[in-house]
Amino acid sequence: MPRHTLLVHAHPRTDSLTAQVATLLHARLKDEGGTVDVLDLYAEGFDPVLHPADEPDWENREKAYSPEVHAHMDRILAADDIVIVFPVWWMAPPAVLKGWIDRVWNYGFAYGRSKPRLASKRMLWLALMGSPLEDIEKLGLDTVLETQLRLGVSEYCGITDSAVRVVYGTELSGVPKDLRPERVRQLLEDAGAALEEALPR
Ligand SMILES: Cc1cc2nc3c(=O)[nH]c(=O)nc-3n(C[C@H](O)[C@H](O)[C@H](O)COP(=O)(O)O)c2cc1C
Repeated sequence: MPRHTLLVHAHPRTDSLTAQVATLLHARLKDEGGTVDVLDLYAEGFDPVLHPADEPDWENREKAYSPEVHAHMDRILAADDIVIVFPVWWMAPPAVLKGWIDRVWNYGFAYGRSKPRLASKRMLWLALMGSPLEDIEKLGLDTVLETQLRLGVSEYCGITDSAVRVVYGTELSGVPKDLRPERVRQLLEDAGAALEEALPR
């Protein structure tokens, strides 16, 4: 049975490394015979601000949220695998992606049920980090994303087959211009390897 993947990405520029990684993963997933729903949060104009319509009602896990949120919930439900590609901004996902989690991964849908609805899915958070790993380790920040995203979101929602993978050193401004194409090639290869390792076919 071919797998269906929801491929979410979040970057304001279509020529970003993030967008290139998303394009590569899209191609890989299709080459493997799967189907892919691409959710480009910027291109779709997703509103990350949580308004009262999408605020959880802790006394009603059947609450009807906004139609936009229910449409996104349906896209999540349809997926076997969820892959999220994003640049790390202040050691966290960009606001548009954080807002997608805030609004869509809502009470009664993603969590708050004795039988979690999303538990059978697989999930990969693929983060692009400007700094090299050594710098992040020196700051004691190398487990931040794992804690926040895998434990704080995926596992909290019952998705035990989940992983955070980080492609480090994506900030190219310090790399001589003539060496950048090779560095980009290497970073894309790292991203492809992370997909294969985290979500084996
Ligand atoms: C607002 C902002 C915040 C950032 N914060 C971090 C950070 O906390 N740690 C880090 O290593 N890089 C940080 N960066 C660098 C990005 O991670 C890096 O530019 C990005 O991964 C490169 O991929 P892109 O070409 O797709 O943007 C930040 C960049 C921006 C624009």
